[in-house]
Amino acid sequence: MERERDEYLWFAAQVLRWIGVDLTEYKRPQMERRLTSLRQRWNCDNWADFFALIRRDPRVYQEFLDKMTINVSEFYRNPGRWEVVGRRLAPRYLKLSRPVRCWSAACSTGEEPYTLAMVLMESGLSPNRFEILATDIDESAMERAKQGIYRTASLEHAPSGTSAKYFEQLGEDRWAIRPIVKQSVRFRRHNLLADPYDHGFDLIVCRNVMIYFTEEAKMRIYPKFRDALAPGGVLFVGSTEPIFQPERFGFRVFDTFFYEKISPSPGR
Ligand SMILES: C[S@@+](CC[C@H](N)C(=O)[O-])C[C@H]1O[C@@H](n2cnc3c(N)ncnc32)[C@H](O)[C@@H]1O
Repeated sequence: MERERDEYLWFAAQVLRWIGVDLTEYKRPQMERRLTSLRQRWNCDNWADFFALIRRDPRVYQEFLDKMTINVSEFYRNPGRWEVVGRRLAPRYLKLSRPVRCWSAACSTGEEPYTLAMVLMESGLSPNRFEILATDIDESAMERAKQGIYRTASLEHAPSGTSAKYFEQLGEDRWAIRPIVKQSVRFRRHNLLADPYDHGFDLIVCRNVMIYFTEEAKMRIYPKFRDALAPGGVLFVGSTEPIFQPERFGFRVFDTFFYEKISPSPGR
């Protein structure tokens, strides 16, 4: 058992050296369980054999990435929370004389940044008044995001009328997101655990990824989000990821699952 554990750490070190992703920053029991099931499915008795296999077989490598990243997403995930963006944040943005800068971090297959674009448009902002940077560690997920073709199930929580307005139906179970939604979203690969963060965002949406990270990793990431926000900027997190004592990281509660950057008052 102990030897098995050591081997997992050895495997994690090889993966880090090879693709720059540190598996030890993800909660170990869940990650180890997911990867063990994949390893066993490919009949590898140990982590060394499995590492050799993912290095030589692109199919297994892709499955490994899929297991590691979990790309599940949907449009308007937790719809009540998206109403906060329309009701409380968009009125602020309408007053800005410059484009609103947003970041959808860990955007997976694009449902989240496209939802944000639709919410802002529904609130009266034309697409040239906002820009959305959408990032993820998984480039194949973002390729799908750029294609923008979705199944009906992913639209289940979209408000009525949204599908017809912002999607073109291609077939019974295929919907293409319209160019008007795509035009303000730019995709880029970014590893939240290792890459530098951009700055000056009015809104950062980072949902359903922090849940996979260790406490230590989260403690490092929250201050980076705060620094990435413009004064008064807001961080929107997932509905299982509340930040306890947000003041520790320079945030105050703005709404449930929304945290506003605390900025020093002018003159101080
Ligand atoms: C469950 S999806 C969340 C998608 C979307 N944010 C939502 O809430 O519907 C988690 C995403 O986090 C991404 N991810 C995992 N580790 C990451 C990292 N270190 N940096 C950036 N993205 C990461 C995965 O590739 C996956 O697309």
